[in-house]
Amino acid sequence: MYNKGLIVSGLVIFVLLVTFPIWFNGLDAGPLPKPELPPGGEKECVAPAAEMRDSHMQLLNEWRDDVLRNSDRVTVTVGGKEYQKGLQIACMQCHSNKEKFCDTCHEYAAVSPTCWDCHITPTELAKKEAQ
Ligand code: HEC
Ligand code: HEC
Ligand code: HEC
Repeated sequence: MYNKGLIVSGLVIFVLLVTFPIWFNGLDAGPLPKPELPPGGEKECVAPAAEMRDSHMQLLNEWRDDVLRNSDRVTVTVGGKEYQKGLQIACMQCHSNKEKFCDTCHEYAAVSPTCWDCHITPTELAKKEAQ
């Protein structure tokens, strides 16, 4: 038996991927999102920006597998500072405003990663700590 839901979402993802250069360059797609750069003033990402734009999803999957399946918590060094592979403990250390960074693009691209069902955002964390 085929799973129709899976096929349809597979097709949607395929179309999004194939047409990515078109809509990402803003042809007919309305104003481009302007993700806010790290408020802490960091200048570099864990990989060149263009590479991050294209494949941060794969990188996150690789990191998750490294940490959870291979117990590899190796650190990455960016601008002389060490970060452990992770979503909160790396990405969100610099991109501390998920709403103004991750969300601006994702809303534009109509993707809603489910990561935040479990992983806590800096905003949620700050709220908790204030309680
Ligand atoms: C069902 C809950 C759940 C969802 C959904 C989820 N994760 Fe996780 N994730 C976890 C747990 C639990 C850990 C283990 C935390 C630890 O051991 O540090 C983890 C660990 C990770 C790690 C490794 C280290 C760390 O603490 O950050 C990465 C990277 C990661 N997840 C990325 C993602 C991404 C990207 C998504 C969305 C595509 C996602 N996760 C969705 C539960 C979840
Ligand atoms: C050390 C701080 C730091 C860490 C850690 C970090 N980033 Fe970045 N990130 C940056 C900076 C600074 C830029 C802008 C770089 C540039 O423009 O050359 C950036 C750029 C990006 C971009 C491209 C943004 C655009 O405007 O096109 C994406 C996507 C991104 N980061 C995602 C992530 C993800 C996902 C993680 C975790 C796997 C992560 N970053 C970890 C600092 C960081
Ligand atoms: C420069 C725009 C941009 C920024 C900034 C950005 N993303 Fe994305 N992200 C995208 C696009 C576009 C997609 C979907 C396209 C694709 O799958 O190729 C995506 C997809 C994802 C996915 C996979 C979603 C899925 O359902 O499979 C994850 C996980 C993700 N992003 C995490 C993050 C995190 C975490 C941040 C903030 C630290 C972030 N992204 C910032 C553009 C961005």
